Amino acid sequence: MTIQLGDVAPDFTAQTTEGEIKFHDWLGDSWGILFSHPKDFTPVCTTELGEVAKLKGEFDKRNTKVIGLSVDSVEDHEKWKGDIEETQGEGLNFPLIGDKNKEVATLYGMIHPNSLDSLTVRSVFIVGPDKKVKLTITYPASTGRNFQEILRVLDSLQLTAGFSVSTPVNWKDGDDVIIAPALSDDEANVKFPKGFKTLKPYLRLTPQPNK
Ligand code: BEZ
Repeated sequence: MTIQLGDVAPDFTAQTTEGEIKFHDWLGDSWGILFSHPKDFTPVCTTELGEVAKLKGEFDKRNTKVIGLSVDSVEDHEKWKGDIEETQGEGLNFPLIGDKNKEVATLYGMIHPNSLDSLTVRSVFIVGPDKKVKLTITYPASTGRNFQEILRVLDSLQLTAGFSVSTPVNWKDGDDVIIAPALSDDEANVKFPKGFKTLKPYLRLTPQPNK
């Protein structure tokens, strides 16, 4: 199944390292990040899970719950936990789904057989509080993800959900943002009292409105 932006994130019930989870109920009113990794006891995955654990406070600040998945069992996840803590300096502090029967992986199209046989690739889904998919990214097994980029996109998604703006190339939290071209200058003056710079009629920059 191909999941597209704007689709409702498929709901599921799964066993995790923190017990059984019904995905939509578990998300509640939060944002969510569901990400898969290919396999337990593998090097890149070990570094990724340690990094996500270190960033837990950053996800919490953004009202975002994270949950990982591989097509290994919860028992394997439990055995692997110690290695993550020992080598990465941070233990798992978020749930990992055990998906031995590939049910969630299949539902989310996380298995790309021409790339990685029957294992999950490195998929990322960001889900909004409305349960709709806001972002999908797929990385190959050989490339560990940059979770700072995922935080950056989350900042952009949360900002643009609340204001009539979009974020330019390489934007990061605190930088100027782009006023929606649909707004007239008069409307922009009301909505963005800090003012704006007009580079072209369709390209107007304003200080980040929620700072
Ligand atoms: C890794 O996490 O290092 C890995 C997992 C599966 C295939 C290749 C690399």
